[in-house]
Amino acid sequence: MAGRERKQTDLDKGIVIPDDCLGYPLDLFTFPKHYSEDLECVYIPHGVIKDRIERLARNIMDDLGDHDIVVLCVLKGGYQFCADLVDCIKVLCRNSNKTLPMRVDFIRLKSYLNDQSTQDLHIEGAENLSVLSGKNVLIVEAIVDTGKTMKTLLDHVEAFKPKMIKVAGLLVKRVSSGTGYLPDYVGFEIPNRFVVGYALDYNEYFRDLNHICVISDRGKQKYKI
Ligand code: HPA
Ligand code: MG
Repeated sequence: MAGRERKQTDLDKGIVIPDDCLGYPLDLFTFPKHYSEDLECVYIPHGVIKDRIERLARNIMDDLGDHDIVVLCVLKGGYQFCADLVDCIKVLCRNSNKTLPMRVDFIRLKSYLNDQSTQDLHIEGAENLSVLSGKNVLIVEAIVDTGKTMKTLLDHVEAFKPKMIKVAGLLVKRVSSGTGYLPDYVGFEIPNRFVVGYALDYNEYFRDLNHICVISDRGKQKYKI
């Protein structure tokens, strides 16, 4: 592709979804009927999410293979990404000469009400993070927006003196108020819109949706608290 070569840094953001992306009409896909009025479009189809995770797993394996790691899954939104990522790494371990022994741990962060971020961040399950001392840690997070939450979490984890910390973020939001923080492994860079599905919620709804979708105004009203 003469004149169209990509710089390596372009790949660091993963698949970039532009601001003018309209997504796909819902009727081109299947999704739970109970959400038929609540979504605007499909932004990232489930199959594309899975394909991208397969490649992230390979990148992680290339970098960390033959180390021991502790996977730190950030709940609740990160559970599906973490499960699929760990599954892909398991397949790679079975089918290659490299291996990646993994422990999986969970923490829970809370900072959102409706579609707005609140100032206070609560970390639950952080009591036993002393197991991270001297370990290689892979933090698995579904979405990074301003980067402030991740910065707070990294400070917290660093206090336990791990040997190394890497972060895998499925989605990174392009927000003007962002810190510019970019995870080591990024699935997709998305516009600053509120998305749901693939375990991402709006007030606990929509986790039972496979695709990553944009919520409609009606959906926001219906599930508002
Ligand atoms: N959707 C769900 N949860 C979130 C989002 C989002 O767009 N941004 C931060 N947390
Ligand atoms: Mg949430």
